[in-house]
Amino acid sequence: MTRVVISSDHADIPLRQAIVAHVEAAGHTVTDIGPATDASTDYPKHGQAAAQMIADGDADLGIIICGTGQGIMMAANKVAGIRCGVCSDTFSARMIRAHNNAQMLSMGARVIGKGLALEIVDAFLLTEFEGGRHATRVDMIEG
Ligand code: RB5
Repeated sequence: MTRVVISSDHADIPLRQAIVAHVEAAGHTVTDIGPATDASTDYPKHGQAAAQMIADGDADLGIIICGTGQGIMMAANKVAGIRCGVCSDTFSARMIRAHNNAQMLSMGARVIGKGLALEIVDAFLLTEFEGGRHATRVDMIEG
């Protein structure tokens, strides 16, 4: 069973809640670290908090959301060992797992709708890292 941490900023709390329900319904263990309300908040702290859970071994994968998906992704990638990509399509969501071994998916709530977001989540969660030559390249990212 995969342990998935999910977080966002204030951009779209209902989308985050829909993703939480969707991932739980797929049988995964979800830790929803908020925020609870749509009061304006700072995306870096939410991205870093989710990433830190993975870095600490308290979650396997993460899904994060802000308005564009970009800022929260940048914050998550500042945590050592974390690889997070922004996706607005299912192909990219598969590839960041298969080739980049990304532990985290970021999406822009003001970029894509809920239906596509849930399909992207499924693509991300259902794809395994292919290893092999891709492992060598991923190792190069870490330095
Ligand atoms: C908040 O207005 C917005 O800047 C944030 O959600 C995100 O898009 C930042 O990258």
